[in-house]
Amino acid sequence: MDQEIANTLGELERKLRELERVLSGIGQGATTGEEMRAARAVPPSQSVPASQPPPPSQPPPPSPSVPPSQYVPSSNPAPSVAPAPRASTSTRAHSRVVDEAAERSGGESRHAAPADTAVASAPAPSSSAGAATPSPLAAAGSATPTAAPATAPIGHGRRPPPLADRAPSAAELLRFRDRLERTARELTHDYDELLGRITYAAVPTQTGPAISFARGAPSLDIVDVQGLRDAAVRAFDSDPGGTTAYGTSIGYPRLRAWIADRHGVEPERVLVTNGSMQADAFLFESLVRPGDDVVVERPSYDRTLLSLRERGATLHPIELQPDGIDTGALAHLLGTGQARPNLAHIIPNFQNPAGYTLSLAKRETLLDLSAQHDFVVFEDDPYVALRFSGESVPTMLSMAPERVVYASSFSKTVCPGVRVGYLVGPAELIAKIAKLATNTYISPSMVAQSIVYEFCASGAIERSIETVRTALAKRALTLAEALRRELPEAEFVAPEGGYFMWVTLPAGTDVARLFSAAGELGVTFVKGTDFLLEGGENTLRLAYSGVNEQEIDEGITRLAAAYRSL
Ligand SMILES: Cc1ncc(COP(=O)(O)O)c(C=O)c1O
Repeated sequence: MDQEIANTLGELERKLRELERVLSGIGQGATTGEEMRAARAVPPSQSVPASQPPPPSQPPPPSPSVPPSQYVPSSNPAPSVAPAPRASTSTRAHSRVVDEAAERSGGESRHAAPADTAVASAPAPSSSAGAATPSPLAAAGSATPTAAPATAPIGHGRRPPPLADRAPSAAELLRFRDRLERTARELTHDYDELLGRITYAAVPTQTGPAISFARGAPSLDIVDVQGLRDAAVRAFDSDPGGTTAYGTSIGYPRLRAWIADRHGVEPERVLVTNGSMQADAFLFESLVRPGDDVVVERPSYDRTLLSLRERGATLHPIELQPDGIDTGALAHLLGTGQARPNLAHIIPNFQNPAGYTLSLAKRETLLDLSAQHDFVVFEDDPYVALRFSGESVPTMLSMAPERVVYASSFSKTVCPGVRVGYLVGPAELIAKIAKLATNTYISPSMVAQSIVYEFCASGAIERSIETVRTALAKRALTLAEALRRELPEAEFVAPEGGYFMWVTLPAGTDVARLFSAAGELGVTFVKGTDFLLEGGENTLRLAYSGVNEQEIDEGITRLAAAYRSL
């Protein structure tokens, strides 16, 4: 690669020197043909042996002023001296002006070349010693064959004297100017290409489509589209009235009952919403007033942080450890009276963004603290069903139903497009939120909830969970292996379930810059800083839910290359 870059640089430099020489030659040539000839002479050391084969070349695009029908590729006449082989991998044409100027170094015979050779599209006579070649001006004339006497067709008896023996006409100079401009564009293009190769000398260029580790959504291949289609048919067949009606704000009754049964609670304690984000919003609106203290994990789901901040809550981020929130730090915060929260937002399983899971011991401690300091634990649990290794831990809802409001979702196990989530909490709170829901949207989508109900009641949900879980287990493994192989500097805890992996890069790594560099290589992720109120500049979240194993391998290879390019 280094040698290739050096070759290209040498080539560019050679062409620039020739360009300068040709330009100064024109200035002088306008005075006498002899001076022009002298100015155009190329030292023999710079000529390239004719034995070297010319590289593949395409004609340059016609200049805008030239109708395509009149354009005659200047590659038609055989060059007297083979142009230097290009180091660049570009298949683009050579810079015609400069190459042809260099070719003119082939000897006196060049002066005998008729200016209209190119116009007649006749191959120039060639010889190994250096055949006659049209001068740059003559070749330029090929673009506008009728513009000047010098380009009159062969046989008309008005052939002009060789250019080198006279000053060029104004029209010829203008055409030559066009050619110079084209050459300048080509040289700039070569140079830009070279710059790109130097910047990413050690980096593979993007091949194939962009790979996203950014979105916490399932890839289409693990969505049971047929199962959903069948469920939709059943929904309209079995309950056309309920499916098409406004329904009620607590949600589609059959789905509400199914969820209640799943959690072993009364249906009065369940409210089905348009996605669990809506459930969060209703809960915050009911419980959080401006200035209220709210405990959050550090890092935490960015949308929750945003929603709480927009409500004017005072957030108290508590460090998240691989076994969940640092309950010691929380106890300290509460014990010293620095915060009197009425709510703690906790994502207990396969946390977003970290992928960590709250241990049973910490769940117990957290519930004890909630009882002692009288705050509600908001258990935000959309990933609970997606465990692929380790032991399941009971929900805090099941451990202390009076202290916990629980939210979950079908987004991660069925698909996010259905927009169905739910809340489970004390019946009075749920009744209060149901009123809020009525005032907000009358009722959530009965069509979506009826379909989800049919999907669940038929058992398709279990198959779907199994599909997602199996796929994600493989993806998480592939991701961990790829990181260990390609980016050993990355620190992470291999998740036991869910969609996400949190990655910490060596201190001082600027992940914002990595984000840009990775983007140029066609790979995206979410910066860790998006999940934190402060700090985390060397962290990032990788979602493996939307990418297959090949994409994970390729994506991490690109990410590692971007990291090394910083
Ligand atoms: C922790 C957490 N809560 C809530 C949501 C929102 O999910 P839904 O699609 O059900 O609104 C997400 C989505 O990523 C999430 O990660």
